[in-house]
Amino acid sequence: MAIGTSSRSLIKPWPRNSLLLSSSVIIIVGIILAVTYQSILKPPQPKLCGSQGGPPITAPRIKLRDGRYLAYKEHGLPRDKANHKIVFIHGTDSCRHDAVFVTLLSPGLVKELSVYMVTFDKPGYGESDPDPNRTPKSLVLDVEELADQLSLGSRFYVIGNSMGGQATWGCLKYIPHRLAGVTLVAPVVNYWWKNLPLNVSTQGFNLQPRRDQWAVRVAHYAPWLIYWWNTQGWFPGSSVANRDRGNLSQPDKDIILKHGSSRKPHLEEVRQQGIHESINRDMIVGFGNWEFDPIELENPFLNNESSVHLWQGDEDMLVPVTLQRYVAHKLPWLHYHEVPRSGHFFPHAKGMVDDIVKTLLSSAAEN
Ligand SMILES: *[C@@H]1O[C@H](CO)[C@@H](O)[C@H](O)[C@H]1NC(C)=O
Ligand SMILES: *[C@@H]1O[C@H](CO)[C@@H](O)[C@H](O)[C@H]1NC(C)=O
Ligand SMILES: *[C@@H]1O[C@H](CO)[C@@H](O)[C@H](O)[C@H]1NC(C)=O
Repeated sequence: MAIGTSSRSLIKPWPRNSLLLSSSVIIIVGIILAVTYQSILKPPQPKLCGSQGGPPITAPRIKLRDGRYLAYKEHGLPRDKANHKIVFIHGTDSCRHDAVFVTLLSPGLVKELSVYMVTFDKPGYGESDPDPNRTPKSLVLDVEELADQLSLGSRFYVIGNSMGGQATWGCLKYIPHRLAGVTLVAPVVNYWWKNLPLNVSTQGFNLQPRRDQWAVRVAHYAPWLIYWWNTQGWFPGSSVANRDRGNLSQPDKDIILKHGSSRKPHLEEVRQQGIHESINRDMIVGFGNWEFDPIELENPFLNNESSVHLWQGDEDMLVPVTLQRYVAHKLPWLHYHEVPRSGHFFPHAKGMVDDIVKTLLSSAAEN
């Protein structure tokens, strides 16, 4: 039952000692594995934007420290007119066009709160180059470089949704001095954060649909297998990777029924470079071994100059609410907002975005 023991033994490395018996066996097995890896398990090269046969470049992009390009999209008031500049970090299977925190914001509020927002394609999504070396920290550096190249000033706001949580927690860890305020919306909890007690982590883990329990295990213990896992047709891979909504909660199904079609125009663009450096990379990083544990973070706003908010629906089938409650309990300086009768997509519910953005911006001292 415990993730730490049973799943580890299920995916234990092969007993190599027995293979040492004969060197010819090693060579034959090696050849079979290599051929299998090349032909089935190895993800195809991502289709780089602007390369021959790859998708076209249509968005503005900045060049990052390691030569990668990051595509972005600006919303709200012009940058030089707005008092509040927000960087939004999208979740899995999304891209720079997914900008509900500004597109669903009442037009009056955009002006009244003086909001500028930039959204960007995370590496491997949309028109941003993949980053096979991605970590929560590298994504934070991408965010900081984007803010600096766009001259957003010494401090800016960050909103991160779902899988965007890895970089949003990362901002609190690595660039607290650059933050004007932070909001996490249904951020993914990594079952392997060091300070999550095993019983709490296991209970949350078991609340997930079975197929996602397995996909998350593979992402953590055998990331080299995740491409095959999420694309094969023998048994169900990750529900997100397969865009299967069957296991979502009713409030989420209702929202998708109501708003589903509004996403269609850019759905193709999200994964146009391939599933591996986008969706799978998010899982590998999100459920991998982090260099830090959010549960150890300290309040970046010791003088109450601003605040950190976390919003979570209590019927979220992708991010178990019990885990979020534990995190919130451990971080008393974090303002926790639990939204009743809501799933993972609650920001799409009427008035929600207004609440979330107003709460973030009004808790900051005037600057
Ligand atoms: C986990 O164990 C602790 C200490 O034994 C206990 O107080 C807590 O209620 C348990 N939590 C869950 C979710 O089982
Ligand atoms: C997920 O969906 C499957 C297939 O419809 C169902 O058998 C299973 O009980 C669901 N799991 C959860 C946790 O709702
Ligand atoms: C910040 O706010 C908290 C709670 O409102 C208060 O207890 C604390 O003294 C404040 N700290 C400062 C430095 O003003």
